[in-house]
Amino acid sequence: MENRFEEIQNGVVLAELGGYGDGPYCARHGAGASLVMMGTYIIEEGNAIPYPAHFVFKPGRKCIYSSYLKEQVIVARESGARVGVSIISTQVSYAIDFLLTAQEAGADYASLCVHSEMEMFVKEGLGYALCRRENSKHLKKWAKNLVKSLQIPVIFKIGLNEPSETIAAVDNIAESGVPIVHINVENTEAGSPGLQILKKLAGRCLFLIGGGGVKEIEGAQRVLETGANAVAIGTAAMNNPDLCGHLQNLLKKL
Ligand SMILES: Cc1cc2nc3c(=O)[nH]c(=O)nc-3n(C[C@H](O)[C@H](O)[C@H](O)COP(=O)(O)O)c2cc1C
Repeated sequence: MENRFEEIQNGVVLAELGGYGDGPYCARHGAGASLVMMGTYIIEEGNAIPYPAHFVFKPGRKCIYSSYLKEQVIVARESGARVGVSIISTQVSYAIDFLLTAQEAGADYASLCVHSEMEMFVKEGLGYALCRRENSKHLKKWAKNLVKSLQIPVIFKIGLNEPSETIAAVDNIAESGVPIVHINVENTEAGSPGLQILKKLAGRCLFLIGGGGVKEIEGAQRVLETGANAVAIGTAAMNNPDLCGHLQNLLKKL
């Protein structure tokens, strides 16, 4: 069967880093990767998050985030990679409006961050709490709405919960039509529980991106050997801007 995501298969993904991951950061730190992810937030009036103002938007201000996204996506393309935009927000309608605007701005992938531990999200059953068993209806509603609204492929970026809960969440996400799951498993050392869970998740969605603690080619290979389709790098790429391109080249030669 044709792989819809051949362009990022076995590729290196620059993970979204709220507070850092704008266009210029992606261009520099994601140079030579297969996909770079920009990180952004939509929060309501009165909420505060510890990120620079240009990463954080108020709902319904399309006129402001439209010009931001147009500029940043163009700059991120200098990486040579496909460009994804990631959002976290308190309402599905805000996320859809923002990601549709990203699509209009030329983004290739749209991602929902289901990863944050910030109270303003978790107390609403959002952030990482969206993957808790008791929020599965809520998770499916977000997934179905995003997939229905967007033409570009949707990614759900999740963190780890208890293993059976994580598996159930990935099944719910995939059954709702989301093709790509990106999971941060925190540790991908040889023999780590992170690699075990990646093995269990591979094949449960169309395309699995795995990451967490990858610093060198051996780590990237361990992730891909689990059956994950691509490997994500965050902190190590922040510390070494040439790392993504270097690892992508090594992976191509294997
Ligand atoms: C400073 C910082 C900011 C982050 N911001 C986001 C974010 O906005 N959205 C998200 O989904 N993940 C975010 N993450 C998680 C990373 O994308 C990545 O999954 C995680 O750091 C694990 O990969 P690593 O060990 O290679 O850094 C952030 C991580 C860091 C260190």
